[in-house]
Amino acid sequence: MDTQSIEAKIAALSTALHAHNHAYYVLNTPSISDYEFDMMLKELETLEKQYPEFAQTNSPTKRVGQDLTKKFLTQKHRFPMLSLSNSYSEQEIIDWAERCLKLLGETSEFVCELKYDGVAIGLHYLEGNLHQALTRGDGEQGEVVTANVRTIRTVPLVLSGTYPTDFEIRGEIFMPHQQFAILNKQREAMGEPLFANPRNTASGTLKLLDSKEVSKRGLDCYLYGVHGLKSEAAGHYEAVLLAKKWGFKVPDPALRMIEKTNSIEGIMDFIHYWDVHRNELPFDIDGVVLKVNSYEQQTLLGLTAKSPRWAIAYKFKTERVETILESVNFQVGRTGAITPVANLLPVQLGGTTVKRASLHNADQINKLDLCIGDTIQVEKGGEIIPKIVGVNTSLRKHQERIQFIEHCPECHSPLTRQEGEAQHYCTNELNCPPQVTGKILHFISRKALNIDGLGEETVELMFVKKLINNVLDLFYLTFDQLLSLERMAEKSANNLLKSIEAAKQVPFERVLYGLGIRYVGETVAKKLAQAFLNIDQLQSATTEELLLVDEIGEKIASSIRSYFEQAQNVALIEGLKQVGLQFQSEEKKQDSNLLEGKTCVISGTFDTFSRDELKELIERNGGKLGTSVSAKTHFLIAGANMGPAKLQKATDLGVTLLTENEFIQLISQ
Ligand code: IVH
Repeated sequence: MDTQSIEAKIAALSTALHAHNHAYYVLNTPSISDYEFDMMLKELETLEKQYPEFAQTNSPTKRVGQDLTKKFLTQKHRFPMLSLSNSYSEQEIIDWAERCLKLLGETSEFVCELKYDGVAIGLHYLEGNLHQALTRGDGEQGEVVTANVRTIRTVPLVLSGTYPTDFEIRGEIFMPHQQFAILNKQREAMGEPLFANPRNTASGTLKLLDSKEVSKRGLDCYLYGVHGLKSEAAGHYEAVLLAKKWGFKVPDPALRMIEKTNSIEGIMDFIHYWDVHRNELPFDIDGVVLKVNSYEQQTLLGLTAKSPRWAIAYKFKTERVETILESVNFQVGRTGAITPVANLLPVQLGGTTVKRASLHNADQINKLDLCIGDTIQVEKGGEIIPKIVGVNTSLRKHQERIQFIEHCPECHSPLTRQEGEAQHYCTNELNCPPQVTGKILHFISRKALNIDGLGEETVELMFVKKLINNVLDLFYLTFDQLLSLERMAEKSANNLLKSIEAAKQVPFERVLYGLGIRYVGETVAKKLAQAFLNIDQLQSATTEELLLVDEIGEKIASSIRSYFEQAQNVALIEGLKQVGLQFQSEEKKQDSNLLEGKTCVISGTFDTFSRDELKELIERNGGKLGTSVSAKTHFLIAGANMGPAKLQKATDLGVTLLTENEFIQLISQ
């Protein structure tokens, strides 16, 4: 290829990837498969490495984060970033709207929108390209966080449609609840202190110096205001909806996230709606924002010292209630970690009845200085489990301080707490019931061995009936043993056995994750499997060798070493090897060429394999996975509940239909 066509190829790949990214993250309607996306991105990465002179500043490859910042530069805002006056009182909102109407002396349209609880950001676009991202700072000047903002998938790096050549768009960066929960779960597993709430986490993440880390944190962004427009829109509402056409993620009117009204009743209705429904949103809001729509009217109303007269925020009262701390339970996790849980006098909070709150660890109890019977304050943040935020000591009746236990509440073995660790642990790893069943449940979980048809209750029942005492025992379960359990019918027993059999094909990295070595989560397991190729190499690796692996620090290395120093763990692995589990990394192991040159499409739901497993099977047999049925499709692997349109199309095009079993037969020839 000559340099000109390489430049054109890089440009074409970049454009296509921006469009696919927008379809996936902003519109929630993927246009190609993840696999195809990854392949295109890889191709672009390779080309950019070879020809860095043609790489675009806003290349889709920059989303994974590359730049390490030493320090954020500050820069003056082109339009000052004002704050909003706010109020907790409905009457004050009514007064505000009436004042606006009086000052304007005419009717006015108001825009109602959500007050996102995150961090404000200003995005400057030049010629349709993200040029700079600035934090609010002191409102006059902010910090340049462009590299970090580039990693947010819903922020377009390159715009589409007809956009102004130079403008700024402002919005709020936040962390969705689900992402926050995942992050804290990972931190808990790693023994790191938990993040307090999604807002602080979003704000801290945006200020990280390593944009690669930022790219993994799952930040998101809604845009709520456009600055620097000329005649493109007459008002705020119209501008926001225009911005949607340029590729921005903006509030959806269909979900009432933004609404135009010309009455005070309309404003109140919006406030009341979100006061009730805000708990259903997948992210935090702390109120609603009301704005005069017309730009002309906004100019007429003008500004006060710090905030515009044309906007106001109505803030919801923080949901905090008082209740009584009745008792504290201590729960034992699969790793033996002890978590204190507060039992509360049931109380209504945020639309649900709260009976329990997590106390995390001994330090947390000491910090709050809690006594049984105390009147405490509970708040609901972004987290599902409410937290205790304070004690009303003036109402204290007894002085019975909560004593952290010294023995396991389940098996009565002594607890230990290591230097620098927040958590206490039960030492009886092999026989402490919740540790045994917890380990089994972790082993069979979806991301590990993915053994279906075995819930918590059944595992506990099997443990009590002495059918299983560790994960190896699962592979020796017989049909008759399963049938002897209450509620286990023939069909489910058969399915379970099939699922256990299928687990033998699960790749090494997931088996490694399933072993439940402390601090070895999904990502670490993957890194280890790549670095060591098989379990024997991992087992004999020294601490120094372990530390050479990306993402492995002292704590993880020492946890891995101590796992393999225990004879029972080595014996367990020997046993698992014998029953046929995968303890070797597959360098994209190829099983056959049976599907060479064939494109397969998967549709519907399946009994034996997950979609990811089917995809892997197709690839391991030389085939390619297609996203939609077309003239190029060879096989349609049809599961249950497949759409009739797809079926019709496949039939019309003469595509060969395969059931799951027929597919398995085909590749096992
Ligand atoms: S408008 C002059 N709209 O609230 C108007 N702000 O105190 C300036 N915020 O730091 C902002 N949701 O980060 C506006 N729909 C929304 C908002 C919003 C959240 C934040 C913003 C700002 C703070 C204002």
